Amino acid sequence: MQALTVVPEQKNSLRLDTLPDPVPGEGELLVDGLAVGICGTDREIVEGLYGTPREGRERLVIGHESLGRVRQAPPASGLVPGDLVVGVVRRPDPVPCGACAHGWFDMCRNGRFTERGIKGLDGYAATSWTVEADYAVRLDPSLEHVGVLLEPATVVAKAWDQIERIGARSWFAPHSVLVTGAGPIGLLAALLGRQRGLEVHVLDRAESGVKPELVRRLGAEYHHADVEEVMTRVRPDLVIEATGAASVVFGAMAGMGPYGVLCLTGLSPAGRTLEVDAGYINRDLVLDNSVVVGTVNANLRHYAAAAAALAEADRGWLDALITRRVPLESWEEAFERHPDDVKTVVELRPAG
Ligand code: BGC
Repeated sequence: MQALTVVPEQKNSLRLDTLPDPVPGEGELLVDGLAVGICGTDREIVEGLYGTPREGRERLVIGHESLGRVRQAPPASGLVPGDLVVGVVRRPDPVPCGACAHGWFDMCRNGRFTERGIKGLDGYAATSWTVEADYAVRLDPSLEHVGVLLEPATVVAKAWDQIERIGARSWFAPHSVLVTGAGPIGLLAALLGRQRGLEVHVLDRAESGVKPELVRRLGAEYHHADVEEVMTRVRPDLVIEATGAASVVFGAMAGMGPYGVLCLTGLSPAGRTLEVDAGYINRDLVLDNSVVVGTVNANLRHYAAAAAALAEADRGWLDALITRRVPLESWEEAFERHPDDVKTVVELRPAG
C-alpha cells in the first residue's frame, strides 16, 4: 500500500512511501482508503511542529480526516464489505482516566490518549488501512463524495454539544450565532447552526470568492468587518470562534451579551502578546453570566451526530466546501495554499 509519512518534528520530511499491506487484527476492519482531508494540524505536523510516531517507529503515517470503503469485516461487527466508513481519530488513554473510562476520551484528563495520524498511532492517509470496528463510523452511501468532511463535522458537533450543555444550566432559547472564520470548521459550524433554526452570521477576512457564496447558500449572513463592529451590530447570543486569531478571540469575548457562550475551536500560535482591557472583560463576563469554553476532538456520540448532520445537509453545498481534490501521486500540491481554498482533499483511490 501507499501512504503519506513524516518524521515528526522534522520539517518537510513528508513523502509518499510504499509500505507492507496492513493485516487486520481481531475485531478490525480492512478498509480501502478513498480520501483524506488536510487541515491545519496536518500542516503543523509537516512543518515539524506537532505529531508523535508509534512507539519504536521513526515515521508516522499522517491523516486523521478519513473516508474509506470496507474490504473485509469481522462477522459480528455490524459492518459489511462495501460499507462507507470513517475512522475515529482518538483512542482512550491506557490508564484509563475517569473520562476515558466512561467513553469521554475527547475529554481525557492525563493527556496519554493517542490519535490516528497525529499522536502515537498511524493515520489514514493510506491506500488501505485497518481500524477497530468499534472505532469505525458507517456513513450513508449517498455521502461517498463528501464523507471525508465527517471528522471536521464531529469537531463542530462537539462544539454545539458543549454550547447546549452550558446553555441548559438556566433558561436558554438562543436566537442567533456569530461564527468567526469561514474555513471548514466555521462553515460546518454555520451549517449546524442553520440546522438548529438559528439566525447565523459568519465573519471572515475574505472579501469575495467562494466563502461569502457558501455562507449565502446556507441562508446565513456574511460579514467582512471587525469583530467588535459585527458584535455590536448583530448582538449574537452565541459565538463559535474558528480563526484562532487572538484579536478576534478577545474582541468576541469583550462584545458578548447577557448569558453569552463563546466556544473556542481555533488553535493559535503561542508567544504573541496583545493589549486588552482585562478588567473590563472580566467584569463583563461576570455581570453577564457568560461562559468562554474551549473544545477539541470528539467522542463517538459526536461522530453519530455529525453523520446525521451531513446526511441531512445539501450534497451540493458540502461538495462545494471541498475546493480542491488532489490525486495521491500529486500529494505535494495538497499542501500548497491557494487563495480560494476551503478544504483540500487527497484522493487515495487510483484514477480511472
Ligand atoms: C483534530 C482533533 C485532534 C486535534 C489535536 C485536530 O486537528 O481534528 O481530532 O484532537 O487536532 O491533536
